[in-house]
Amino acid sequence: MSRHLLGLENLPAAEIRALVAAARRHAEWLRDPAAKGTSLRGRFIVLGFFESSTRTRVSFEAAGKRLGAATVAITATGSSLDKGETLLDTAWTFESMGASCLVMRHNRSGSPHDLVERLTTMAVVNGGDGRREHPTQALLDLFSIVSHGLAPEGLRLTMVGDVAHSRVARSNIYALTALGATLTLCGPPTLMPAGIEKLGRAPGRVIVEHRLDEALRGAQAVMVLRLQRERMQEGLLPSLGEYARLYQVTAERLARHAPEALVMHPGPMNRGVEIDSQVADGSRSVIREQVTAGVAVRCAVLERACGVAEWAAPDGATAPAAAGEFEEVRR
Ligand code: CP
Repeated sequence: MSRHLLGLENLPAAEIRALVAAARRHAEWLRDPAAKGTSLRGRFIVLGFFESSTRTRVSFEAAGKRLGAATVAITATGSSLDKGETLLDTAWTFESMGASCLVMRHNRSGSPHDLVERLTTMAVVNGGDGRREHPTQALLDLFSIVSHGLAPEGLRLTMVGDVAHSRVARSNIYALTALGATLTLCGPPTLMPAGIEKLGRAPGRVIVEHRLDEALRGAQAVMVLRLQRERMQEGLLPSLGEYARLYQVTAERLARHAPEALVMHPGPMNRGVEIDSQVADGSRSVIREQVTAGVAVRCAVLERACGVAEWAAPDGATAPAAAGEFEEVRR
């Protein structure tokens, strides 16, 4: 088993389940803010966040520290990347200092993949690369879904928003379809990549529906995606007002079409654009729970990346045993 976690596209379903089950074990003891783990004592983890982040960066740092690791966070500004050092030379620098793991966010899709072939002892965990993948976000999303008693097998989840620029969308498509869910993707045609249906890990599990009312109907979970204005070229949307009119997830729309659905958002949110505050802060919202789950999931991912036995992945071939773990996650 590779210690790297670059994406969920090819991660076996049993390993996805095992990571969520391990995160559940961490979530138990993490509830006590004074509790400390020891499984990463003596390990050195570098958090290379070469693109902005709040949730991912802080939760990886919190996870590493709660498990006893030494963590150092670095950004592009103020590092030798500023002076023209290559990303590989920067990664080799961390490896030469004895880092067990580099958690990396970068705006270039595929950048963590370029490093792993050239590293020998340091694992790489993808904290989000361009529009390609954000695997730990999808794992914490899965954790949140299962925690609310929803089985991924047969789940009907609707994803609304800027699919084209969303690494969260891709990682969720890979993970959820691998586990038997069906995803309806909704957004304007300019923000919906042609052929996105083919990303599902089984045929027919990804559907595109441009009409929001239709897409919401019968959904058990609604995942709202951020409108990524910083990655957009001109002309993809007529106006924010027009976008909000057609695609904002509002309390009225939810009440009409999916009153029982869990409401999710990976953050950061554009309140009043893709999501109404009444929905974001409403009784069906699990957005803050998603953030809490992030620390537990990243504890499991860091233990795996550092080669710690305690993360206790069941053998990759024993899917039924791992599937049983999901029962424990449900409250
Ligand atoms: N969801 C997410 O990746 O948030 P940050 O950009 O704040 O890390």
